[in-house]
Amino acid sequence: MKPIQKASVCGLGKLGACIAATLAQRGFEVVGIDIDPEKVARINAGQPPVEEPLLAETITAGRARLRATQDYREAVATDVTFFIPPSPSLPDGSFSNEFLLRAMQPIAAAVRAQGKSGHLFVCSSTTTPGAVDTVLIPMLERETGGVCGRDFGVCYNPEFIALGNVVKGLLEPDLVLIGESDPQSGAVLEALYRRYNQNQPNIARMSIISAELTKISLNSYVTMKISFTNQLRMIAEQFPKANIHQILDAIGSDSRVGRKYLRAGLSYGGPCFPRDNRLLAYTARQLNLDAPLAEAADKVNHRANADLFERVCRLVSKTDTVAVLGLTYKPDTYITEEAAGLFLAQQLKRNGYKVVVHDYGARPEIEPSVIEFEHLADPATLAQRADIKLAVICCPWPQYRSVKFAPATQVLSPWKL
Ligand SMILES: NC(=O)c1ccc[n+]([C@@H]2O[C@H](COP(=O)([O-])OP(=O)(O)OC[C@H]3O[C@@H](n4cnc5c(N)ncnc54)[C@H](O)[C@@H]3O)[C@@H](O)[C@H]2O)c1
Repeated sequence: MKPIQKASVCGLGKLGACIAATLAQRGFEVVGIDIDPEKVARINAGQPPVEEPLLAETITAGRARLRATQDYREAVATDVTFFIPPSPSLPDGSFSNEFLLRAMQPIAAAVRAQGKSGHLFVCSSTTTPGAVDTVLIPMLERETGGVCGRDFGVCYNPEFIALGNVVKGLLEPDLVLIGESDPQSGAVLEALYRRYNQNQPNIARMSIISAELTKISLNSYVTMKISFTNQLRMIAEQFPKANIHQILDAIGSDSRVGRKYLRAGLSYGGPCFPRDNRLLAYTARQLNLDAPLAEAADKVNHRANADLFERVCRLVSKTDTVAVLGLTYKPDTYITEEAAGLFLAQQLKRNGYKVVVHDYGARPEIEPSVIEFEHLADPATLAQRADIKLAVICCPWPQYRSVKFAPATQVLSPWKL
């Protein structure tokens, strides 16, 4: 297996487009592959196929080395293919392999048709622990007609990024996680990252199953920390003189705990934390084990959402209008998946309250979950909206600090903005 000069990236969505663009910016020849012709056309026109800060500039910087196609066969001329299609959650908490299988199969078949050996298949989408060894590699061996670790290599290499910070998160991560089918495949991928990363991250190499468990356990650990803050907040709120921000500030100053994710706010959401945590619980159940910490984090998270709704109901009557500000799961993104603000707005509407919403990222033009609500285009209009009895800041976009409200509007800000 030779050092990587040319890479293909299969799946040009929120994560894959950023992986392709940053690889090109860092000097690799890159071919992006997607089934969506619009995404392919946008990359070829030098435009970002998804909304993400710094992506447009990164595509421009690497444009001479970046192109896209719908033709899977073009991957064979590259040294490595990163696969980053969706891996949606199934009702039991496991992740579907369907998109990965559909993306990998034609490339494996093309590798066989062109008689190539030494191709590196890198799975970057999150998988159910065990899926790479028991589902993906057997399919690759069937389709290529080769043996994994001898005729081709496989790595499991998920990224730990947050939407809104994907480009920087990819280039300057704390951790690069590599699960490898064989030492040579891991070494080749490690060498790529040593050239690609702009910092010196910890590059952790291990077996594929260890890496699959590491990916979801790291996120599960963070959800546990967030749920701990929510559990403590709900207890502290019962004591009029208790201040949750001071309590967490003191706890976080102990270096055994640390301040990160120890901030009073609302539930966690987004496309990774809730799903990865539930996947860990699923994995334990499959082994006839319990994962009570993961299950409790999920339970507290639901409780935190219900608690917010109940609190709002105590402050308003059904004839009042409530403004829900911040529908995304974090600032700097338009994604509302499992977000506290979206949950509150939906619950209020379903229960007959009048709701208006605002978000700096999730606008009706790009985020369908917002369409059902009266949407404020400009939060400056809140100063004239005397009809709004209560405004709830559900996502800590810093811009909300300077928003002016009508004198009659009460403001509930669980985040210390
Ligand atoms: N978005 C995140 O914050 C994040 C963070 C960490 C991990 N992940 C993981 O990354 C994976 C992708 O997430 P995303 O948010 O980028 O998804 P996305 O839906 O934004 O993008 C997926 C892309 O894959 C393409 N695609 C689907 N099937 C294909 C196929 N057969 N061949 C080629 N392309 C195909 C789609 O057209 C789309 O462009 C998921 O497994 C997710 O769990 C996402």
